[in-house]
Amino acid sequence: LQNFTVLGIESSCDDTGAAVVRSDGTILGEALASQSHIHAPWGGVVPGLAKEAHEAEIDRIVQEALEAAGMTSAADVDAIGVTVGPGLEICLRVGATKARALAVEHEKPFVGVHHLEAHILMARLPYDSASKQLGFPFLALLVSGGHCQLLKCTGIGNMTVLGGTFDDSLGEAYDKTARLLGLPVGGGGGPVVERLAREGDPTAIPLSVPLQSRKDLDFSYSGLKSNVRRVAERLAKEGGVETPANLPHPIKANLAASFQHVAIQHVEQRLRRAMILLEEEEEEGIRSLALVGGVAANQVLRTRIEGLCKQRSWDLWIPPPRLCTDQGTMSAWAAIERIRVQSTDDPTIPDVYARYP
Ligand code: KG4
Ligand code: ZN
Repeated sequence: LQNFTVLGIESSCDDTGAAVVRSDGTILGEALASQSHIHAPWGGVVPGLAKEAHEAEIDRIVQEALEAAGMTSAADVDAIGVTVGPGLEICLRVGATKARALAVEHEKPFVGVHHLEAHILMARLPYDSASKQLGFPFLALLVSGGHCQLLKCTGIGNMTVLGGTFDDSLGEAYDKTARLLGLPVGGGGGPVVERLAREGDPTAIPLSVPLQSRKDLDFSYSGLKSNVRRVAERLAKEGGVETPANLPHPIKANLAASFQHVAIQHVEQRLRRAMILLEEEEEEGIRSLALVGGVAANQVLRTRIEGLCKQRSWDLWIPPPRLCTDQGTMSAWAAIERIRVQSTDDPTIPDVYARYP
């Protein structure tokens, strides 16, 4: 198959992203508008404000990505892909409407991308032409703001959920911990908690690892969240400060580090179990792991999962940190993968899917 280029658009949550990617995996041009400064004062993503910001930025971001790729308009790409779900419906609609209009106007093949599949497929993007590509089947650990799942991936559009979360996702747990400690959130609390944790002792504050009695592949982070809150409130009371946000910096750092340590221990336990299961279950035995989603940008998580994979002789595939969180390249690359298996969509059907199994 000859090389072709795809314009990808992403607007499912609080990032307006666009990118032009070539089918061999080369990223030709990218543009991204983060809304963190808009949502920061509210302590989380406000859907109405997110939609307005997407509307304000979408044309500029798409044009910037095209120009960065040395193109002048969407007429210059071979196809167009856009996230159509899951996500915030009013936000999804902004990107989807733009992408569909361009596909119809320029008569380009169109792909409505599943956001979670797009995160997962980022592990298959050939990051340099010399390296080999992650092949099916593989195990995926998807850890983002909206999701926390283990999936068995056997092909494009063929992904089976082996385990999910009963309540919060790992990303949400980071975001809530950031809020509890009064750290600036908006673009997600993960990076700020990670930074603060570097200054703390991960064993300073004992917290319980979730779901010790359940020997399965599911996650739960709400118990850990309450555990951190209880301890932080007790420390605040003992220290004579009003809220955990007013605790002295070293104590906050210890809380962040201890939270992160146990949150990742939970991931390790679930992941190890899934690995053993797949090693035994499959005839050929799956031995490749894709670590994807926003939280996969976390350096401590990356290092610890790397250790686990080494231990069990598994191959590990992780996108570079900036491509773990939401951006346009993921939509373009997922569309490329779909086009390769002749799976495109009708751009005149206007639906988006807030929930998208
Ligand atoms: O994939 P993503 O950008 O959006 C969703 O599809 O949800 O993930 C966003 C989530 C947020 O919860 C954010 O706090 C978390 O990923 N995150 C991190 C880091 N970078 C982003 N969590 C921990 N450490 C990080 N470095
Ligand atoms: Zn995402």
